[in-house]
Amino acid sequence: MNIVILAAGQGKRMHSDLPKVLHQLAGRPLLAHVLQTASVLQCETTCVVYGHGGEQVKAATSQSGISWARQELQRGTGHAVLQAIPCLAEHLPTLILYGDVPLIRTETLLRLVAAAGDGMGILTVKLDDPTGYGRIVREADAITRIVEEKDASVAERALKEINTGVMLVPTMQLKSWLLRLTNDNSQGEYYLTDIVAMAVAEGVRIADVQPADSWEILGVNSRADLARLERLYQTQISESLLEKGVTLSDPARLDVRGRLICGRDCVIDVNCIFEGEVVLGNRVRVGANSVLRNVQIESGTCIEPFCHIEEARIGENCRVGPYARLRPGTYLAEEVHVGNFVEVKASKIGRGTKANHLSYVGDSDVGQNVNIGAGTITCNYDGASKHRTVIEDDVFIGSNTQLIAPIRIGKGATIGAGSTITADTPEYKLTLSRSRQVTIPDWSRPLKKKN
Ligand code: UD1
Ligand code: CA
Repeated sequence: MNIVILAAGQGKRMHSDLPKVLHQLAGRPLLAHVLQTASVLQCETTCVVYGHGGEQVKAATSQSGISWARQELQRGTGHAVLQAIPCLAEHLPTLILYGDVPLIRTETLLRLVAAAGDGMGILTVKLDDPTGYGRIVREADAITRIVEEKDASVAERALKEINTGVMLVPTMQLKSWLLRLTNDNSQGEYYLTDIVAMAVAEGVRIADVQPADSWEILGVNSRADLARLERLYQTQISESLLEKGVTLSDPARLDVRGRLICGRDCVIDVNCIFEGEVVLGNRVRVGANSVLRNVQIESGTCIEPFCHIEEARIGENCRVGPYARLRPGTYLAEEVHVGNFVEVKASKIGRGTKANHLSYVGDSDVGQNVNIGAGTITCNYDGASKHRTVIEDDVFIGSNTQLIAPIRIGKGATIGAGSTITADTPEYKLTLSRSRQVTIPDWSRPLKKKN
């Protein structure tokens, strides 16, 4: 099969410098959703018809093996498909999709392909309010043509069955039909929809299929449409998570921009955002207002509210947050506690270690059962390069300590509070760097002069 994706539309009503198909739904461009759906179907060629901001659209598309056809001026959907003809394998049917209709299900398209056989297939839907859409005209139940709203008679406008725009067409005929289109209509455009009457005249069988849900065919023309489709998309995800046994405190207050995989009995509180690929083990709890991007969390771990976690792996039975930030390259072993206002970056933290308050741990290897006191900072950056800090097992770091990397704190060492540690410290010893406390006996506080 060939797939043609129409994406030349300017999207004036978006009021944006970004081409419409690059606006994001669930963290990915609209076009990426359509390409993803297309990629699941077995197709020989995928051709995107682009126009406005074409270079930007190409640059933003990571999928490989796509051919691109430029439509210089937007002279209608028929003209748009004509631009793709040189890319298509003639002996295979062509499926036409829109780059701004992102929610269409692969399963719906497969049904359309099956129903069409070697004839033509049209995806239609009945709408209570069909305003704006092309209407499906039938005679004795068989589709005879499609009429655009602007060209329709009063009686035709009353028809509720509409053209979704998705069609499967035999490619040889498609080419000859497109070449015969005229723009003799109210919009002066070459309508793809006019090929339906041509197919009927040539005795080509026309099948019609309906999507399981009518929202599948909704397109994006405005920011309001985009917001509505985002909610529809997120609702699908919430429902599927609930079905798989995840507890969502409020299914309407969850955003998944990528893939979220959950084990058994996970609980996700309100306003959490999951980006990229997030994998939660069993009984993981994610507190309110947390953002997780490309994270793997093992069973029994609790993320308290307001955490920001990116490119991190968290072991079993850890406790993170509230208000913790785990940056890329963070690896927490089991039973680690990372508390409020603690930032960790590119660091391994061993089993049972605790950094409960107000610390920065960067470029560090921290052993097991270490206690990192409040206000501990690994000073990993000298203004030019980053250096590593090694803290061995069973170390106790007193509060408000700076560890100037590169540095190694030996096993079982204790660092006195308020220290600035600049050299490696021995195992099992107390090390501190702190000026001695003095009290000045005959000192008195200066007094303000009274006038
Ligand atoms: C089209 C259909 C209409 C259908 C509706 C469904 C035609 C003539 N009409 O109408 O029957 O009910 O879609 O939404 O086909 N595009 C281009 N180049 C162009 C024109 C359009 O690439 O020259 C692309 C647009 O970017 C968009 C798609 O084709 O993705 C549909 O274009 P749009 O203008 O929205 O079509 P409608 O007039 O709404
Ligand atoms: Ca449209």
